[in-house]
Amino acid sequence: MSHAPPHATRTNARCTKTIKLSTGQAIPAVGLGTWQSSDEDVYKAVLTALQAGYRHIDTAAIYGNEKAIGDAIRAAKVPREELFITTKLWCTDHTRPQEALDASLAKLGLEYVDLYLMHWPVPLNPEGNHPRVPTRPDGKRDVVEGWSFVDTYAKMQTLLAGGKTRAIGVLNFSVSNLQKLLDAESTTVVPAANQIELHPYLPQPKLVQFCNDHGIVVEAYSPLGSTDLPLLKDATVAQIAAKHGVSVATVLISWAVSRDVVVLPKSVTPARIETNLEVVDLSADEAAQLAALHELAGTRRFVAPDWSPAVVFDSNE
Ligand code: A2P
Repeated sequence: MSHAPPHATRTNARCTKTIKLSTGQAIPAVGLGTWQSSDEDVYKAVLTALQAGYRHIDTAAIYGNEKAIGDAIRAAKVPREELFITTKLWCTDHTRPQEALDASLAKLGLEYVDLYLMHWPVPLNPEGNHPRVPTRPDGKRDVVEGWSFVDTYAKMQTLLAGGKTRAIGVLNFSVSNLQKLLDAESTTVVPAANQIELHPYLPQPKLVQFCNDHGIVVEAYSPLGSTDLPLLKDATVAQIAAKHGVSVATVLISWAVSRDVVVLPKSVTPARIETNLEVVDLSADEAAQLAALHELAGTRRFVAPDWSPAVVFDSNE
C-alpha cells in the first residue's frame, strides 16, 4: 500500500459541505448545473458527476432534459435518499404547479424532488401564441392578467403536503419581489431557497444579506459567468488561482462556498465536472478581493431576458 509522503498536503479537496435549509434538509453546497446541456451530453454529465461524488443535480422543466437526467440517475445507482434533485416550474405553468410538478416527475422517473423552484416571478399565458414565451401583439411578454407570483407561490405551498417535493423556493427574486412575497397574507412558508445569478462581477451583497436574514438559502447559477466567461480570463482571479495551484473555476466555486452559498457550475466536460467539485480555502483577503472585483471590472449580469411588462431585475445590489 502506498502512502503520500508526510509533507504532501492537498491544496484542494472534494467539497462535501452541505447547507441546512429551513426545512431541515441538507443541500450539498456544490451541485451540477444543467442549463443548455443536450440530452446526450447531460446523460453523460450526470453519470460522470454522480460517479465523481456529486449528490446534487439542478434541472428545470424548460431545459427539456429531465428525462435524460432521470435516466442517468437510474444508471448511476446511487440510493435516492443520498441525492438532492431540484427542478423548476416554468412561467406558462404558474396557474397549475401540481400538474407541472407531476409532469416533471414523470420525465425524471422520480417519486419526489427535493426542491421545486418557481423559475421566474413571471406568470405567462398558458394559451398564448407560444408554448414557452408567449408574447402580445406589441411584442411584450403575455403575462397572465390578475395573477401574480404570490398566487403561484400560494399554490406551490400546497404541494408540500403531497410529498412530491420536499421543499419549495424561488429563482431570480430581487429583494423587492421577495419582500412582496413574504408580506403577502397567503405566504405561510418562507421559500427554502432563492437561486440567482451570482459571481464576483455580480456579488449582490444586499440580496444575499436579505436572504440570510430571512433563512432563505442562496443558490448561485452561472457562477463562472455563463457562456461568454470573461470571469475565467480575469487577472485577479487568475492570480489567486495560481497562488493555490488550481483552476480559475475552482476559485470562483470556492468563493461561493465560502459565502455559504450553494453553487451550481454547469459543465458537460468530464474533467471540468470533476474539478468543479474541488474547493480550496480562500483567505479573508482573497475573498474580499473577489467581492470587490466588480468595482474594477464593472457589474455585469449575463442572464437578463426581457420580461417586460413584468419587473424582475430592479437592482444589481
Ligand atoms: P462545458 O459545459 O462545455 O464544459 P456557468 O456555470 O457559469 O453557466 O458556466 C458554464 C460554462 O462554463 C459552460 O460553457 C462550461 O463549458 C464552462 N465551464 C464549466 N466548468 C468549467 C471549468 N472548470 N473551466 C472552464 N470552463 C468551464
